[in-house]
Amino acid sequence: MAAPATSAPSAPPAPVAPGDLSEGGSRGPPDLPPEPKQLPELIRLKRDGGRLSDVDIRGFVRAVVDGSAHGAQIGAMLMAIRLRGMDLEETVALTRALATSGQQLEWPEAWRSQLVDKHSTGGVGDKVSLVLAPALAACGCKVPMISGRGLGHTGGTLDKLESIPGFTVIQSPEQMQGLLEQVGCCIVGQSKKLVPADGILYEARDVTATVDSLPLITASILSKKVVESLSALVVDVKFGGAAVFPSQAQARELAEVLVGVGAGLGLRVAAALTAMNSPLGRSVGHSLEVEEALLCMDGAGPPDLRDLVTRLGGVLLWLSRQAETQDEGAARVAQTLDDGSARDRFERMLAGQGVDPGLARALCSGTPAQRRQLLPRAREQEELHAPADGMPWLRVHLDAPALSAAQRRALQEALVLSDRAPFAAPSPFAELVLPPPRTMSTHTQQ
Ligand code: URA
Repeated sequence: MAAPATSAPSAPPAPVAPGDLSEGGSRGPPDLPPEPKQLPELIRLKRDGGRLSDVDIRGFVRAVVDGSAHGAQIGAMLMAIRLRGMDLEETVALTRALATSGQQLEWPEAWRSQLVDKHSTGGVGDKVSLVLAPALAACGCKVPMISGRGLGHTGGTLDKLESIPGFTVIQSPEQMQGLLEQVGCCIVGQSKKLVPADGILYEARDVTATVDSLPLITASILSKKVVESLSALVVDVKFGGAAVFPSQAQARELAEVLVGVGAGLGLRVAAALTAMNSPLGRSVGHSLEVEEALLCMDGAGPPDLRDLVTRLGGVLLWLSRQAETQDEGAARVAQTLDDGSARDRFERMLAGQGVDPGLARALCSGTPAQRRQLLPRAREQEELHAPADGMPWLRVHLDAPALSAAQRRALQEALVLSDRAPFAAPSPFAELVLPPPRTMSTHTQQ
């Protein structure tokens, strides 16, 4: 991470109510609006280490959405931001410009304190959202989750859900409201109506080596969440060998930017730092992760996944004042996994988002072996054996006829045999960065 967001300007931006996204920060005198800069000038300004005004940022985002910006100009601006960084005020302005590139979601007033969501900076084997959204719905929350696709080497929640035949990630705001009324949660993608600018920049970042930029990650995540008009958001900021940022210190820096920009936009954001040195759970790959998410909703499955789901859910219930403590919130989320109510919501969400109701039922009520028959499978499976006692330690699902010798060697070299006690994955949850007290209101920090 070469270019962290530089320190905040002297006065932090005034907080804005979540629904109030129309007005920017700095503006020209009313009778003399500043001449909008052309894109090459904006790119040059950022390339040379200058700061972009709110008008500049809105001009860039407008050009991205209306198609007047060339792909090369988008890539150049992303790289300039990646290398030069943005201060807090610029990052707030970028987040707001992305959010207002589409429609703001509005919900019935009665839902105000129930609206919560979670987002992850991206990991390997991270299927938490698949479990947490329905679990929170079963706790009485409304979860209008706008999620993402794979970015860099990390997997995307939408891609995982699309491995379920019929699942449709594009839902109109009206359809989302219907899902929240009937199910309590939905998991959708950005679209032409919802945060279209993020869709374009997200794809461009993936192919221009600009994924690991604090302001770009922050604006991408928070723009989708600001649009949702939430009561509280928790961002799972991963650190470690399989995360975008390897060190906990770098992840903490991102967490602080996320929380600070959230506060600048009137959004109550907490950031959990969680370890991503090994895949979460035991399965990696879209349909395999759906299977493992269902196992977690059976009240079973790998302990590290259950731990993260319940702890992140506990933070959200506490932050939105629906639980007295994080532990109480976590226990309520755990209860929905054990009594089948989270799985019931998942089944209803699948049926509500285009999956044949019979398939949704069979998936949710079936055994793991039956579920596997219902989801797409790779053509081949190859097991790798431990050299010492010959037991299989890894099963690779692949469409090619077999692993190449180099792939097999690389995987086998990852295996370490030792005489130590069997390895139990520790809780990934390391640290929680909380929003400033003025956005916490009646809560004290735990
Ligand atoms: N998720 C997003 O939506 N954007 C990012 O940049 C990273 C994770």
